[in-house]
Amino acid sequence: MTLKDKHIVLGITGSIAAYKAASLARLLIKAGAEVQIVMTPSGKEFITPVTLSALTGKPVVSEFFTANDGTWHSHVDLGQWADLMLIAPATAATIGKMANGIADNMLITTYLSMKSPVMIAPAMDLDMFAHPSTTRNIELLRSYGNIIIEPAAGELASHLIGKGRMEEPEKILTVVEDFFAGEESLSKKKVLITAGPTYERIDPVRFIGNYSSGKMGFALAEECARRGAQVTLVAGPVSLKINHPNITRIDVESAEEMYNASVKAFPEMDAALLCAAVADFRPAEQYKEKVKRGEDILNISLVPNKDIAASLGKMKKSSQILIGFALETNDEETNALKKMAKKNLDFIVLNSLNDAGAGFKYDTNKIAILTSSGERKDFALKSKKDVATDIINETLG
Ligand code: PMT
Repeated sequence: MTLKDKHIVLGITGSIAAYKAASLARLLIKAGAEVQIVMTPSGKEFITPVTLSALTGKPVVSEFFTANDGTWHSHVDLGQWADLMLIAPATAATIGKMANGIADNMLITTYLSMKSPVMIAPAMDLDMFAHPSTTRNIELLRSYGNIIIEPAAGELASHLIGKGRMEEPEKILTVVEDFFAGEESLSKKKVLITAGPTYERIDPVRFIGNYSSGKMGFALAEECARRGAQVTLVAGPVSLKINHPNITRIDVESAEEMYNASVKAFPEMDAALLCAAVADFRPAEQYKEKVKRGEDILNISLVPNKDIAASLGKMKKSSQILIGFALETNDEETNALKKMAKKNLDFIVLNSLNDAGAGFKYDTNKIAILTSSGERKDFALKSKKDVATDIINETLG
């Protein structure tokens, strides 16, 4: 029983996919969980509370009060009881209310009171899912630390084909099971993660930088923290937010600042995941004032930055694990292997700009993991969250 004694609040909202929530409740219970269903008023239009309470053995909670006896249902108590809140299906309306704290029904007040992690399985038509407001609200929920179970692509209730179909109950069950299985696997471990780009200052308004968004490194930090690790996240200039009690974030701008923070932290660490796209060069001279435009060519001499990975490779004790990344455009494997050897890494994660949807900025990535003992394992294109799970499973166990 993979979910034995786990308390799960299953939130159901007004989507045609609500019918799948009955199977999901059943699967969760069969895996050993105790399930309490909370429905929005429109959720009840799609599936009856009677069906659901018969499956879970508990009355469905939907209103703040029971009309006939005035009993008050405490969203605060539910927030403390649950080990997980899972909202499946989650409509665009509920996602918008959750993102913005519009607590006008029992499901949203329960969400706002939740002490435990929250998973959200969106379900809606493809245009609603692709709308900028939905994208923004989902990003907000991610920034609160909520886990999004991406909808699948396929035929939708409207008969249109596209992304928006709630993930199948069996797949959602696997996500929940994996979540609890991995929960404490890295407890007592200390992990250093570098993420994002570095900015190398030319003058007060200009810099040399790169396209790294920090998404891959932040996904690694979130997954390590979720598994109980104490994470030191050294982040270059990115717009991402992260919110987890196990994560200590150190914001830096230049490669030199990233180097200093990483070298200082590393001796205490069990492992380091070096995901940042660190500038290899910086301007030899930083102008104090903005460089004025002129007719002549402006030459900027560049000097090499210190290599953080190579320095940590030299400092590394036999008990420490060092994992680097390589973003390549040609001769991918050869270049990645050279980097692994030169920097004394235990693993290198290879991503190639030749793979659609991989590398900088995307929410997805496609990787291969190479080991210092000569093995190679390839993975499919996945969300950066799932890629982070693969990397941690393969390297830190
Ligand atoms: O941030 P995202 O938009 O999500 O994109 C993620 C990513 C593409 C940036 C990430 O997956 C990735 O590939 N990062 C490494 C980028 C790279 O190509 O690094 P590199 O080949 O320059 O360096 C190899 C390794 O040495 C890397 O682990 C790098 O962090 C490290 N390095 C490099 C230079 C330097 N001065 N110090 C370093 O530690």
